Amino acid sequence: MEFFIKFIIFCFVIFGVFIFKVVSPPLNFPRNIPTIPFYVSFLPIFYSIDQTELFELYLRKPLERYGAVKYFFGSRWNILVSKRLFVKQMFKNEDVFAKSGNQKKIPYSLLALYTGDNVISAHGEIWKTYRSVVTNGLQHFDYEPLYKNSKLFCDLIEKSLETEENSESTVTVGPLIQRLALANISQVVLGFDFGTLTEEKCALQDHLIRIKKQIFHPFFLTFPFFDMLPLPQRRKGFKDVSAFRNELVSKVRNDLINNYKFEQTTFTSSDLIRAYNNKLINYQQLTDNIVVLLVAGHENPQLAITTILYLLGKYHDSWQIAIRNEIGKLSKHDDLLQLPILNSFIFEALRVYPPLSIIINRCTTKTCRLGNDIVIPKGAYVGYHNYSTTHNFESWGDDSDEFNPNRWGKTIEAIFHNWKVAKMECTLPTFHGGKRACLGEKLALAELRLCIAEILKRFEWKLSKSWNNKMTPAGPLCPLNLKLDFKKIESE
Ligand code: HEM
Repeated sequence: MEFFIKFIIFCFVIFGVFIFKVVSPPLNFPRNIPTIPFYVSFLPIFYSIDQTELFELYLRKPLERYGAVKYFFGSRWNILVSKRLFVKQMFKNEDVFAKSGNQKKIPYSLLALYTGDNVISAHGEIWKTYRSVVTNGLQHFDYEPLYKNSKLFCDLIEKSLETEENSESTVTVGPLIQRLALANISQVVLGFDFGTLTEEKCALQDHLIRIKKQIFHPFFLTFPFFDMLPLPQRRKGFKDVSAFRNELVSKVRNDLINNYKFEQTTFTSSDLIRAYNNKLINYQQLTDNIVVLLVAGHENPQLAITTILYLLGKYHDSWQIAIRNEIGKLSKHDDLLQLPILNSFIFEALRVYPPLSIIINRCTTKTCRLGNDIVIPKGAYVGYHNYSTTHNFESWGDDSDEFNPNRWGKTIEAIFHNWKVAKMECTLPTFHGGKRACLGEKLALAELRLCIAEILKRFEWKLSKSWNNKMTPAGPLCPLNLKLDFKKIESE
């Protein structure tokens, strides 16, 4: 009996500590910034609310006023920064706000197993090694597959329109865009063809879809520590993710290593294999980086393309027609870089809907200050709220929520200059910036331009009336399960 009472008390204490840790931030967290109620990040699990609505309701005001808040996410309290000067400070002081990805933050989780230790999440000397290996391939790549794949992507849309059941000409575009993004990254960066645009069924893609459902399960994203429990569903997830990683690397092995093709090619994966052969990185690091190139290299463009097709559908009568006319005057696809309307439209889309809306993957290496008076203790997780920064009234004006490509300027020179300044000043951290700037920006923008140009030449489209106008509830930001009504443009 006495043992039983002690056991009950023990359970209560554990439960109390758990509740205390979840409900209120650590006592050493700064008191002069607001605390967002702990339940806010759980709301999308229970209610049909998207992340832009959640932002308006709970985050906008405190972030606009204080520039930083305390926010519960991923089983812990974090400090979330949005004021551009704080973001700038964080990006600049890499040694103090050190990258600490999932492999360090939640090493027991499925998410950590998926991407491991890689160029995006690593810190210090290891990161420098990874970055020196992958930079060249990501900056100098072959555009031809992007061009060809955009055409195949349009063929897929056309095929969906031709199916008999599709009398409304409605297409759920997400799966098709994923096929395009996977084909692009596999052919341009990884040195093999996923086959997603040319084959009816692609086993590797099916596998990817299956594991993504498990990895990005909203409950386990919010409470990753449940991955420590031997839950059968999650154990299966771990096996599935390991199998996917092995499958992917064996594809690279078969296509590049076994026939020594990597020796003659400049794909990023060839550079990684060379680094592995020269013992600069080990096999685990080779695998982790190949996986992350696939993940970052297809997911982010996929989100951006979805958002852009959504905006072009929404502004069918204005921007869609204007860009189609602009493109219609061109003869060569290389000239897309010179088009003011197309480029300002893309930049504005990436401002209004930055694909990675919240990123929390830095940990302070010592007690430090944000600005003059926000004292952050050592060992605190710090992240940036991209969406908040790119909608900030002070930086972007009272109309910051409006989609207005004209704000980037009229001439192509002004548009690119403003884009560069926005990144430098951290009013637009969509692609991060500084030393850790995204290495795939050039590739992603090229993909966007080529794909939009091709699709505008072949189709007109509007938002489908059957689409439930919502953005994703949490995590990466884009329209949720977007449906568009397409109409083929008959060539003259
Ligand atoms: C629209 C598309 C994209 C967006 C919005 C985007 C955004 C970002 C952001 C915000 C970061 C910083 C992440 C952090 O703070 O931890 C990043 C890093 C990175 N991205 Fe992208 N990305 C895109 C496309 C790509 C593509 C196509 C690749 C190609 C593989 C790529 C490769 C990388 C790499 C290697 C880094 C790490 C840079 C470093 O830390 O040294 N990204 N990206």
